[in-house]
Amino acid sequence: MRFTLSFAVLCVSGVTLAATFNNPTRATPIARGNTGLNPPRSVLVEYLNERSAAAPRTAKLTNAELLRRGLPPHAPARRRLNARPATRSALPGVTACGYIRATYSQNGTSIGYLSSQLNEFGEVAFVQADQSGAQKFDLTYYPDSPNAPVNLKMRNPVAAESYLGGVVGYDTATDDIGYGSTDYSVLAPTGLTMAHSPPVYGPNAFNDATGNDNKIESAIWRYNAIYNTLGVQWINTDGSEPTTHIAYVIEEPMFVLSGDVNAFYENYGLGASVYFTFVHA
Ligand SMILES: *[C@@H]1O[C@H](CO)[C@@H](O)[C@H](O)[C@H]1NC(C)=O
Repeated sequence: MRFTLSFAVLCVSGVTLAATFNNPTRATPIARGNTGLNPPRSVLVEYLNERSAAAPRTAKLTNAELLRRGLPPHAPARRRLNARPATRSALPGVTACGYIRATYSQNGTSIGYLSSQLNEFGEVAFVQADQSGAQKFDLTYYPDSPNAPVNLKMRNPVAAESYLGGVVGYDTATDDIGYGSTDYSVLAPTGLTMAHSPPVYGPNAFNDATGNDNKIESAIWRYNAIYNTLGVQWINTDGSEPTTHIAYVIEEPMFVLSGDVNAFYENYGLGASVYFTFVHA
């Protein structure tokens, strides 16, 4: 048991939020980073080359000048996200700082703490055994409201964006997840979005790394201060709240949000259910 100045919390592990996932025999192993869940590396290299070549030349040109030169106009300025606190509880929020531990739902085996390192697609991907050097998160929550949407802010951001959010996945047909669907979102640093917001365009590290402008949500977390569990809730485009699971794709590596980890596994041959625990620093 761990006491802090204002509250006491029980450090309980082994509480399975996500449905137990019966992982059958692995399909044919796929080379790391070549799973189809992210852009192919050749496309990524091409994008990075184009970006570095194009940036200095076109940075100061107006759209009219670009069009005269037969170049595409600048992307429209991003609408400022109307960010405000994730929840408006009557009681004041409590702020805590801690690490996030990932554990396999199937067998309660801890995988480790989320590291600061992103994969080459700008996604939160790596775990490490020690807290030392792992990413620290600030969490403002409402002890009486375990279902209130909350944000997780990185203490040591490794991208331009500092929230641990969800970004619509590369290989998805829609911006939604759900039972029977193989669509997914990925965990990555994002900007701040409103509580209960459906996916919206906003800054995110996946876009920064790949040029894929996919929609985001940041207030996807639900913190249970009794069990220290971090539940997750994706909001679909129609505002509905599909049961949301986190799966770890160790082959990539990456974390995905899925409405149906079995359907995801059947499609990709990858992914195992995990749950997240907030470990107070
Ligand atoms: C726990 O489950 C995961 C996911 O299925 C698997 O990869 C891992 O090897 C299992 N660990 C143990 C100790 O059984």
